[in-house]
Amino acid sequence: MQSDHALQQRAAHVGLQLGMDSADTSSTECQVGRGSSPGHLPGVPNSRMEGVTTLSCKSVQGKDMTAEWRDAIQQHLVKNGLARDTPNALMAIDVAQLERQAGKWRANFPRVQPFYAVKSLPDPVVLSTLVASGVNFDCASSAEIDAALEAGATPERIIFANPVKFPGDIKHAREVGVRKMTFDNDDELEKVATIFPDAEVVLRIVTDDSKSVCRLSNKYGAAIEDCSFLLERAKELRLKVIGVSFHVGSGSSEPTAFVDALRNARKVFDIAIELGLSPFRLLDIGGGFPGDDDGVITTKEIADVVNAALDQLFPGNDVEIISEPGRFFSHSSATLAARVIARRKVRTRTEEDPEVLYYIGDGVYGSFNCMLYDHYTPALPEMVPANESGLDRRVLQTRVFGPTCDGLDTIYDNVPLPHLDIGDFMVFRNMGAYTIAASSRFNGINRTEVTYVSTQ
Ligand SMILES: Cc1ncc(COP(=O)(O)O)c(C=O)c1O
Repeated sequence: MQSDHALQQRAAHVGLQLGMDSADTSSTECQVGRGSSPGHLPGVPNSRMEGVTTLSCKSVQGKDMTAEWRDAIQQHLVKNGLARDTPNALMAIDVAQLERQAGKWRANFPRVQPFYAVKSLPDPVVLSTLVASGVNFDCASSAEIDAALEAGATPERIIFANPVKFPGDIKHAREVGVRKMTFDNDDELEKVATIFPDAEVVLRIVTDDSKSVCRLSNKYGAAIEDCSFLLERAKELRLKVIGVSFHVGSGSSEPTAFVDALRNARKVFDIAIELGLSPFRLLDIGGGFPGDDDGVITTKEIADVVNAALDQLFPGNDVEIISEPGRFFSHSSATLAARVIARRKVRTRTEEDPEVLYYIGDGVYGSFNCMLYDHYTPALPEMVPANESGLDRRVLQTRVFGPTCDGLDTIYDNVPLPHLDIGDFMVFRNMGAYTIAASSRFNGINRTEVTYVSTQ
């Protein structure tokens, strides 16, 4: 990864205009400027970084800038939503927040090179920003590989980290030169040996993911007892095994899961030596890192445990250590402003019934699919009126629905929210991870449009 100075230079190249603070901006009023693309970052298509709006907030020494950035993004979304007459919802992706997360990763995991899990937010500007920030990529398909390459990543900066792959995708990886790929069974080894004999394969082992929000080991990961057999089979097939990977489950809350997995990885490294394979040179500790520090566990708490285990089990520099964080980068990078498209006052109600039902322009078939697939509960939104007259601050018991005809399309059931009118905005923070990545056009409703900002 690169130094902060190098990063600033590269970001400036791609038009992110770092350090554009103006002397007369107050801490609450942020300046807005269009990102231009004066230079060209080698390998990063210039067009990708155009249209990033700089939101310059004056930094006050010793003051946490987070609230300033949030206000600036909220203002940007509402202003744009009104200017574009957005009927449904608008998302702002903050490229500077991605860069801050890259810095946070470097500070917390100095020995671990992140390969961003593209699946969590496969947006071209996100990928270009991460390329420029020195982050590499975990891809699950040909399309994700192509997106990472188009964003400027070289094939060596990509791991094809899907243990079961379409044959056509393995062929594509061979054609574009992406050699690193994971496996967890002998059928896959045979498939890879036939299609891409020069691949460098990484053995994914099972983990105890019982303390994670989204479990993965029900589907992937070889049992430790099976590893000797799999490594022998790779040897017979003349496939080069370069290391071990694991994933403790997405949204992991228990750092000991990493320690147990690291101990098992060490065992597999040792088995390879006993079997006379070339010493492994890659350890991939997967994803599962939190997207913010407001939950049950912080990045630092995980890092303290993981770094100590790495130093104990994998001392020295002969093994390259990588990871596959998705949520860590994507979660806090996106804010979503959904418009109230309809409202129903509940006239006949019991004690438990809400007083008013709101229907907003995005729901569980769109960006809020994370509520179903990622077990995510979005924090209550900020309410922003569309007109100058201000928000009616009366708090009512409400139920909030998405726009489709399905009753399942429910975002909140019985929550107290200020009174809103049709056309007003609900602004949801931390909406980057596993949101627009899997949204659909069910009921013919358009997907939420994306804008790009850079908060300074
Ligand atoms: C193989 C693999 N790597 C990385 C990730 C990213 O996980 P997270 O977003 O929890 O960091 C996933 C998520 O499903 C995954 O399946």
